Order: sequence, then C-alpha cells, then structure tokens
Amino acid sequence: MVRRGVRGLLPAVLAAVVALTPAACGGGDDTAGDAVRVGYSQLSAEGSWRAANTASVRAALTPEHGFELELSDDQQKQEGQIAALRRFIADDVDVVAFSPVVEDGWDEVLREAADADVPVVLVDRGITTALPDAYATRIGADFRSEGRRAGRWVRRNAPGARVFELQGTLGSGAQVGRQEGFDALAGDQVVGAATGGFTRAGGRDVTAAALEAWPDVDLVFAHNDDMALGAVEAVRAAGRRPGVDVRVVSVDATRQGLRALAAGDLDLVVECDPDFGEQLAGVLRRVAAGRPVPAETIVRGDVFDRTVTPEQVEARTY
Ligand code: AHR
Repeated sequence: MVRRGVRGLLPAVLAAVVALTPAACGGGDDTAGDAVRVGYSQLSAEGSWRAANTASVRAALTPEHGFELELSDDQQKQEGQIAALRRFIADDVDVVAFSPVVEDGWDEVLREAADADVPVVLVDRGITTALPDAYATRIGADFRSEGRRAGRWVRRNAPGARVFELQGTLGSGAQVGRQEGFDALAGDQVVGAATGGFTRAGGRDVTAAALEAWPDVDLVFAHNDDMALGAVEAVRAAGRRPGVDVRVVSVDATRQGLRALAAGDLDLVVECDPDFGEQLAGVLRRVAAGRPVPAETIVRGDVFDRTVTPEQVEARTY
C-alpha cells in the first residue's frame, strides 16, 4: 500500500481533480489488489454491545474485502491501547484505528503516529486533543444526542422523578456525551450519580448502593443496557418493582435490553448501533488511499419505548 497525503483532507479543488482521474472514473477503489493493513485496538469485551461491535469489525475487515486486520483486545486499559498503537506504528500499518477507552491522554502517541505518517481513525468513542490534526476522522454515534433523547423523554414523561444517573466508564466519550446531553434537559432532576463501568455487575452493585443512599430515587438513567439490566436486578433485590416503583431508561438497544423493555422492566431504550463494520471499511479504504473523508461519520439509531413489538425485539442481531 502506497500512502499518499493521508493526513488531513485534500483541498476541495484538488479533490475535484482527483475525482476526474482515470482511476477514479473507473469507479473502482484505488486500493484494489493491495490489501489495506489495519491495526485496530478494541477496548475489550465490556458486554454484549462491545462484543457485537468487534464481530461487526471483524466481519467487514477480511482479506476477501481487501483488508489485513491486526486486532488487539486491550482490556479497558489505556496503557494497553497506547502500547498496541505503538506496535502498529512500528509495523508501519496503513491505518491505525482504535476505540479510545477514555477521551484524554492520547497526544503523545498520536504525535508519534503523525511523525511516522500513519493515519489514525477513531472508532466509536472520541478523544480530546490539543493537536491540530490528531486523527483523520471518527466514526461512531452522537452520544450527546443519545443523552438528549433520554433526557427529553424523562422531562416529558416523568417530570417529577428523582433520577439516579448510572454512568459509564468515567472520562469516556460515551459517558461524557450521554451525561451532558441528558443533563441539558433533565439535569435538575438528578439527585445522584456514580459509575458502573458499563458492566452488568457494576450496574447492579452501584444501583444497590444508590438506592440505599437516596431511597427516594424513582428513576435510573443507565448509560448502557448492560448496566440497566444490573440496575433492574438491584431494584428487585431492594423489594421494589422495576418499571413501576423505579423506572429505568437506557441506551444501546441490545436484544436483552429490548426484551426487558417489552417485559416492562425498562421504560425507554435509545439505540446505539454497534453494527457499523461495513461503514468503517469504507472510511478506512478512503483514508488509506489518501482520499477526502468527512471529519465525522455519525452512526444513527432509533428510540424504543414500551410500544416495541416482539418482531423488533427478535430482529436484534446483538
Ligand atoms: O462507546 C459505546 C458504549 O460502550 C456502549 O453504549 C456500551 O454498551 C459500550 O460498552
């Protein structure tokens, strides 16, 4: 793979000229015949969403689709992700991709990638950075919008509720965005918040403690379905009825999440679709070929309430 001007976008005029070259006129992919070597650091199998996301990436980035993928499972550890990124840079892959466990702390390794002229693509979560061209593009959900959708529902349907906010991994793009979005619309209803680390066990334990600390809590906003399902267990263990005494609002729309919604244990689930491997493949091809990409590709999702149908539940692929 020949790397050509992969850092940053081509100016519009140059992009237009490139679009008229014979290779582009052929409508083909100018990486054809030469596998795109991708080093990808996933942040581990936190739960069903993450497992589905990894499966989607693996299914799309195959040799048959023109990719050579090296995937590193980095156990929710930023040090592990940084070490993986350094390995990929040393291997001189065509593109480094990663799902950052938290937003901060990537500048040093991203500078190393830039110095080595290896383009970087953010997958799922975003980062904060002081570097001007730290990465080529990001593909993933709009976490703020997800939080706003949940907050809007609470504001409209449970305006007097006292909310416990069950946060994802602190400092992660998903936690920061969902919290900002939710709090913008229903922040004055939040009486307490704590992180359950995006896992079911974390959601259960932290909600159990929260129901003791704030006995008047009657609504939990969980930053993902796995934690929401843990929260439902904790509500029951506390002798209260999920969906009646304590309502639960969540994000992801896993099959288990939607089953709990249909059963009346959850009240609302905002979808965050993990199945964007094919879209990612398109982005990676363009970046590897030095072709222009948008600053961000937003993966869109739906919202499900108690009107969810059995067909919708069973149609879930994750
Ligand atoms: O970054 C996306 C979030 O991470 C998903 O909502 C969650 O389930 C996952 O662990």
